[in-house]
Amino acid sequence: MSIVSSTKPFMHTILTNSAEEAAAILNRGGVVAFPTETVYGLGAGICHQEAIRQVFRAKGRPGDNPLIVHISHVIQLANVANEVNFDAQKLIEHFFPGPLTLVLKKNPCVPETVTAGLQTVGIRCPVNPVAQEFLRFAHCPVAAPSANLSGLPSATSWEAVYEDLDGKIDCVLCGTPSSIGLESTIVDCSGSHPLLLRAGAITLEQLQAIVPAIVTQTTIEKGASPKSPGLKYPHYAPKAAIILCLTHETMVTEPSSAYIGLSEPPQGVSLFKLCESLEEYGRELFSFFRHCDAEGIHRIYCEQPPVQGLGRAIRDRLERAAGHE
Ligand code: TXA
Ligand code: MG
Repeated sequence: MSIVSSTKPFMHTILTNSAEEAAAILNRGGVVAFPTETVYGLGAGICHQEAIRQVFRAKGRPGDNPLIVHISHVIQLANVANEVNFDAQKLIEHFFPGPLTLVLKKNPCVPETVTAGLQTVGIRCPVNPVAQEFLRFAHCPVAAPSANLSGLPSATSWEAVYEDLDGKIDCVLCGTPSSIGLESTIVDCSGSHPLLLRAGAITLEQLQAIVPAIVTQTTIEKGASPKSPGLKYPHYAPKAAIILCLTHETMVTEPSSAYIGLSEPPQGVSLFKLCESLEEYGRELFSFFRHCDAEGIHRIYCEQPPVQGLGRAIRDRLERAAGHE
């Protein structure tokens, strides 16, 4: 009886800052992490089935959770989407390239391993210049989830990618830390009503200024199963317990606790991150979670910003990290 191993043996992970070298590895069927303005992505060419499978294995990602397809230019949309309706066109005009993913009906060229069997596909065109360069060198669009182990906070630096995935992927394209630090906004334009599936740096208010009909899923179907398969899985959670709070006055801290927020930190925390703006809060959140784990912190007190603008995305990640979905 032969034993077939489902995982690849230990792989040598190359670190490079050459987008051309990283893309050459991808074009040979490799799995390559690359920087984007939101978080680092873990890429495989959509024409490389085995590489796509390795992306799922390396992350420990459930097979029913689809990957976003990344393109370097709007011209490539026709290769991945079947139908770009009027709402989608307006969003593309305003927000591509950038931190927005659109869910559209898929083109048959996109394999179902990428979309986890769905007939829709998430499409994103990042604006980060290194991501752009890498995607231009790639011979086909690049399927990429966030470059972290499933369930852990997304990686916003190449060091965080390396910590999670060294030995499991072929290459890390090392860029600067992600300037936004939170995953892209996702809007589903494949059905009759445009739906905000995941809040991000492009805010609901900005989206509604262009397409007023966009609503959040909870607005129309409270308690309905999420339209984005990934949202049912635990997310963004460090080892430390996440305690959500509105102001630091409500906190009772103990040793080995930490704080992140916009208000002054409470007395007695071992570590804190005082953010000057919501932008800084979003950018620093996941790296702070990872830092707290490295320092052996047991509890992280997180100030909840109001549910508006970028605050909506930060609150969403905090609630998921705290297990309050
Ligand atoms: O900013 C980002 O979006 C980053 C960078 C690398 O682009 N990517 C990212 O990928 O956050 P990931 O896999 O961690 O999260 C993608 C989310 C998942 O919740 C997945 O279920 C959802 O997008 N998704 C992907 N394709 C979908 C589809 N066709 N319909 C609904 N949801 C979809
Ligand atoms: Mg992710």
